[in-house]
Amino acid sequence: MRSILFVPADNERKLAKAISCGADALVFDLEDAVMPERKPVARTLLVDYLKTYAGKSEVWIRVNDLASGELLRDLAAVVVSAPVGIVLPKIRGPEDVETVSHYLDMAETQAGLAAGSIGIIAVCTETPAAVLRMGELVTRSLPRLRALMWGGEDLSAALGAGNPRQPDGRWRPVYEHARLQCLLAAHALGIEALDTVYVDFRNVDGCRQNSEQARYDGFTGKIAIHPDQVPVINAAFTPSEAEVAHARRVIAAFESGAGAVSLDGQMLDIPHLKSARRLLAAAAA
Ligand code: COA
Ligand code: MG
Repeated sequence: MRSILFVPADNERKLAKAISCGADALVFDLEDAVMPERKPVARTLLVDYLKTYAGKSEVWIRVNDLASGELLRDLAAVVVSAPVGIVLPKIRGPEDVETVSHYLDMAETQAGLAAGSIGIIAVCTETPAAVLRMGELVTRSLPRLRALMWGGEDLSAALGAGNPRQPDGRWRPVYEHARLQCLLAAHALGIEALDTVYVDFRNVDGCRQNSEQARYDGFTGKIAIHPDQVPVINAAFTPSEAEVAHARRVIAAFESGAGAVSLDGQMLDIPHLKSARRLLAAAAA
């Protein structure tokens, strides 16, 4: 998935708009975009809305975290909507993903859904423990886990720190560290790596550059918070015609059967061939 649009679940106008935004995935939010007293309303509105939802975007739901006291209420309410998956925020380590997987086993049974059908995207950088323990994710069997997503604001709050960004927009070192840990863990697990939000949502050029950098770093998609960001992110995560043409030339250069070849005065070996094949696969998808 290239674009993942967050939609506050208690906002009827945004629910109505979401279907036409062209996002690969929608994440209906029950967590931090909804005030505590609005959570029951948000659950009811969302479940009603999803009864007639017939959009092309995958449906995901961000539930509240395990320590919030709201998570079981969220799952009990929304599993009947059979979302593609849930986004689990503020994990502390792999055991949180395991615990919620067990909750989903029960909820799926009660709702008459196939066992294991609901996926999980874990937000894996919102607690200091999760950042320190990122490598443990890779040592567990977590079959529901479809993607890792990262965010800096909650980590900053947990650290009692200030603005996680530097004046020029770059992440301060601890958040860049968390971002790269998320990227590496996702690829080690063979699942999608999703970059965090670009908050300056009226700045289209900034969003484009930020999204392109994320793809070059190895992220497979990015969160959007506003409909205007969706086409920008989709374009940034779609290989350009020039990239596709170059990848085809790289693949053609290996047709002789040699493992190291030259193209335009540059040496190419097997990693270049793998990257070219991967790019064509992404373009085809
Ligand atoms: N999903 C669906 N529709 C959205 C949307 C979203 N995330 N953000 C804005 N829209 C809609 C608005 O409702 C409006 O449509 P309308 O005129 O039919 O009501 C249209 O897009 C234009 O919105 P605009 O006026 O430019 O923005 P805003 O001031 O209403 O909202 C935000 C700005 C940032 C508050 C809003 O984009 C938002 O709530 N984003 C999601 C925040 C979130 O989920 N955060 C948690 C995850 S990081
Ligand atoms: Mg958050």
